[in-house]
Amino acid sequence: MSTTVDEIADGIYRLSTWVPDIAPPAGFTFNQFLIAADEPLLFHTGPRAMFPLVSEAVGTILPIEQLRWITFGHVESDECGSMNQWLAAAPRAEVAHGMTGCMVSLNDLADRPPRPLADGEILDLGDKRVRHLDTPHVPHAWEARVLYEETTGTLLCGDLFTHLGNGPALTTDDIVEPAMQAEAMFRSTSLAPDTADVMRRLGDLAPNTLALMHGSSFSGDGAKALNNLAAAYETQYLTRS
Ligand SMILES: [Fe+2]
Ligand SMILES: [Fe+2]
Repeated sequence: MSTTVDEIADGIYRLSTWVPDIAPPAGFTFNQFLIAADEPLLFHTGPRAMFPLVSEAVGTILPIEQLRWITFGHVESDECGSMNQWLAAAPRAEVAHGMTGCMVSLNDLADRPPRPLADGEILDLGDKRVRHLDTPHVPHAWEARVLYEETTGTLLCGDLFTHLGNGPALTTDDIVEPAMQAEAMFRSTSLAPDTADVMRRLGDLAPNTLALMHGSSFSGDGAKALNNLAAAYETQYLTRS
């Protein structure tokens, strides 16, 4: 395996590792995003076993000890498995997460105390600004959250729009249909009465780039993509027959 590095928005880098053994023959990508700001931020750490690959990839952009923030959507190994390896490698880095994630898991799991964020709180990274948004159970997990980078209009949307394959770093093609195919295979999304409403609320941000943890990132009308995703979930999973 190897990790590729692509800049998908100004100063936002996608680090992608394709694992062919998951859902062959298409395979499955694990992506992390580095915001190379004055205070650099990593969104998704990758699993523990990928730390050598991902840290080497980050090191091609900036010295990893400069990392200031370690962040992720929810508590799973691909989101935060190597969190403590990153904390050890970057002495001034802090884990930042929502109140629920800190209270339920990270106060215990993280080797240094995490920084809890209120819903809507902004982390000022200097030349970039990220807004923390709580999205409980969307796509899954009580502590689920996403990040919105305001200066580039990039929504770091984690497992939303998850799809198979090793496509381009950034696509303008439809990502809703591939996401619904992957959902039919994995059934990974929690289904709650407000699932579609949360997706639409993210669409209200009108992002122009969607940074996906699994699959190609998307450039284009992010509001339309999120609204179409909400409609697809309503049609296929959320409407009582
Ligand atoms: Fe997940
Ligand atoms: Fe994931």
